[in-house]
Amino acid sequence: MNMASMQMGQPKIPVPNAPGSKAPMLHTLELTPFVDPLPLPTIVRPTLRNGRRTVTVSMQEIHAKVHRDVPPTRMWSYGSSTLAPLIEARSGEAIDIEWINTLPAKHFLPIDHSLHGCGTNIPEVRTAVHVHGAKTRSKDDGYPEDWFPSGKSRTCHYPLEQEAATLWYHDHAMGLNRLNTYAGLFGMFLIRDQVEDSLHLPSDKHEIPLLLYDRDFTADGQLFYDTSGDPEHPWIPEFSADGLLVNGKIRPYLEVEPRLYRFRILNVANSRFFNLTLTSNHSFTQIGSDQGLLAASVKTPRLSLAPAERADVLIDFSQLAGETLHLRTAAEDLLRLRVAKQSPSTAPGFSIPKTIRPIERIPESAATNTRTITLHEYKDKYARSMVMLLNRKHWHEPVTEMPKLNSTEIWEFVNLTEDTHPMHMHLVRFQILDRRSFDTTDYLLNKKLRFTADAIPPDANELGWKDTVQCPESVITRVIVRFEGFPGKYLYHCHILEHEANDMMRPFEVVA
Ligand code: C2O
Ligand code: CU
Ligand code: CU
Repeated sequence: MNMASMQMGQPKIPVPNAPGSKAPMLHTLELTPFVDPLPLPTIVRPTLRNGRRTVTVSMQEIHAKVHRDVPPTRMWSYGSSTLAPLIEARSGEAIDIEWINTLPAKHFLPIDHSLHGCGTNIPEVRTAVHVHGAKTRSKDDGYPEDWFPSGKSRTCHYPLEQEAATLWYHDHAMGLNRLNTYAGLFGMFLIRDQVEDSLHLPSDKHEIPLLLYDRDFTADGQLFYDTSGDPEHPWIPEFSADGLLVNGKIRPYLEVEPRLYRFRILNVANSRFFNLTLTSNHSFTQIGSDQGLLAASVKTPRLSLAPAERADVLIDFSQLAGETLHLRTAAEDLLRLRVAKQSPSTAPGFSIPKTIRPIERIPESAATNTRTITLHEYKDKYARSMVMLLNRKHWHEPVTEMPKLNSTEIWEFVNLTEDTHPMHMHLVRFQILDRRSFDTTDYLLNKKLRFTADAIPPDANELGWKDTVQCPESVITRVIVRFEGFPGKYLYHCHILEHEANDMMRPFEVVA
């Protein structure tokens, strides 16, 4: 396409993927690594107010240092530092959270006003807070269109009638959440229960939350979010940023004692997958995933976390006194772990539990309905991504999935694209049944389902309760789910935030 034809007033061809005009960038690999200690979040527990357990969280603009040698970066947070408070609550003890939006009225990242629900006739800064993994009523779930602007607040009720798990909270405002999350609106939320207590897992300073993400920065240390280069449609389909952050710092370090630790790992990136390993072939012992503890621990040298997935892992440093190791993703170091020469206290002997919490597998025969959800990506003639859809439908089209309250269904995600999509469902927890490769050409052109391999059961560390599942390309990924909780309108979507915004997100309605 040449520029002249564009200026002649002919219908303009959108250029979604052309690189935006880049400011001089910070090259984070040139920064000295491991100079900042790993920040840990403040733990916030509910306090009684008018007889109700309450937490108050305010969203605010902050300036925080992502690295010793980088000037402060403007960000948005659910607290006064980069790392939002970690909310800790007990299973079965309902809480209210008052979410207060004290953000400025203007956004500082590039809004795409052509996206659905993102017009110029509404306040520019809008927030909706979703507690990812929480079983809540629809009105408290952070429905994307149920946003509130700067200067307003919202109190939501969380019954927490669910098992101990690593949840998290993040923005979900229609058309903006990828930018709001990129700006920093995310935090961890832990639910504890008696089963977890009885395991006597490493706790307090031996239990470390790790929030992993990536960001691009301009040379002066400010957040940079790329655009397509088309001012009318700045949306980009996904990206992997240059800087890798853990808990708000670029490649920090953590000093540990030579004993067993528990790490609560969460991928809060917009679109990056983390493929985690430890140097010197040390392994993780995974004891939990998205929706809580596994039935049995799984020893594994690698962990793959798509956006929104969680892993609850134990790492044993007891034989590593005086050593240094790294948590890595692919070939890049994320975090240095420096093991002290001696333990300050004699750590109580601890053996990793083999069986943790009974999990009954839901038999396929329990399902009364199977829904097929196709995943599509539409490209322009230059092979640039234009839009991604579920069942060829946009978000704003009428609800088509209406499961009955307390019924069990199988949802099969038929991935017709060339990417892995982490599919997430609100309200519910599910179990992964299997994944099976099929021929996408036959499916699309001849409307024929032809499998090209046998069904593969989930990995051992995927056998627990999940709320987000990796759906690889040319594969049908099946999950089984019981629609427990509440009737009402919820949603399911790809958790690559760029995909979700345009338009890989659909409502579903649980009917009583
Ligand atoms: Cu992490 Cu729709 O959510
Ligand atoms: Cu969610
Ligand atoms: Cu996706």
